Amino acid sequence: MNRLNADAVSKAHAANFGFEPIGSVFAPGRVNLIGDHTDYNDGYVFPVALEIGTFIAYSRNTSGRVRARSMNMEAQLERDVMAPAFGDWLDYVIGALQALSLNTGVTLPSGLDLTIGSTVPTGASVSSSAALQVATLRAAVEAFGLDISPETLAQVAQNSENNYVGVNCGLMDQMASSTGKPGWALFFDTMTLETTLEPLPTTHSFVTLHSGLSRQLTSGAYNERRTQCETAAAQLGVPSLRTATLDQVDALTGKTRARARHVVTENARVLKARNALTAGDLDGFGALMTESHWSLSRDFETSTREVDALVESCLSRSAQGARITGAGFGGCIVALVKAGEEAALVDSLRLAHPTAWHVATSTGLPDPTKDQRG
Ligand code: GLA
Repeated sequence: MNRLNADAVSKAHAANFGFEPIGSVFAPGRVNLIGDHTDYNDGYVFPVALEIGTFIAYSRNTSGRVRARSMNMEAQLERDVMAPAFGDWLDYVIGALQALSLNTGVTLPSGLDLTIGSTVPTGASVSSSAALQVATLRAAVEAFGLDISPETLAQVAQNSENNYVGVNCGLMDQMASSTGKPGWALFFDTMTLETTLEPLPTTHSFVTLHSGLSRQLTSGAYNERRTQCETAAAQLGVPSLRTATLDQVDALTGKTRARARHVVTENARVLKARNALTAGDLDGFGALMTESHWSLSRDFETSTREVDALVESCLSRSAQGARITGAGFGGCIVALVKAGEEAALVDSLRLAHPTAWHVATSTGLPDPTKDQRG
């Protein structure tokens, strides 16, 4: 599906529905460089929008229904905009449109015909669902001429994921998809909702690699982690783990203590990593990534033996840092290497990790000052 682009999706729309689309939109997937399982604790995250993402060609229709063709699934589904969740891929589309009405008070004047094509692997911790929901919202915004900010769109997409799809996620993925840009790391304070784009270095690359093991975000383990963090905060008498200190966390016991320790140390690592990136200290950044991995593996228990082994293999080759990214429980890792060493790293893993594959490479733009935000 890597040859998918706006043109291919528009052509498929015309072939499938018998008329040209009004337009097409794109929303990217993301890789998180550092700061995992912090967003639902009011903490800090540092993701990067990827070049891969979801394309949607769209037209208005005269019914109150959504007709959607998935190029990836080679399937078409049709449902009322107000229909309840069915447990299939169209839920992400319908959920986003319902949340748009609920969150912004906008009444959609008609239904939509959509042709969807995605280059983001699903169940891989690179935000295929946020990309689909943000792309759906962008299509609705364009199709109906709505005036809604990218930040609000991110919140609408999160609302859909939380209340319609049923994953109690934070706001990182949707914010990265809606306001992030390839070549820039998005520093996002999930408490104040402040975002800043920091240019990635051109001297190094962040290589996203799939372990070959997909995960199930709805499987309950993610929601269980969130509940454990909320329990820790309640036991400490703080509104969220954002304000907890390590000394306080030491008074907790068992899993509650380990989960809270990850969140508190991870927030501190994100702040240090941002400073390291802006200071050009990539060795420092890499070391923080690796520390983050072991915190996620040992304290938060969201890694797997295979993912740990893949991280170790990257570190024993040319990577200056490596870590599991996103929700975890399988999925992708991200490794930091010097520019020019990306392909050699991927090649060197083939024998020991036959199921692993290269998903994306993120690096700085040649002249980021020319690339204004927007
Ligand atoms: C998933 C969620 C995010 C975030 C990450 C872990 O991607 O959607 O909100 O919690 O896991 O950092």
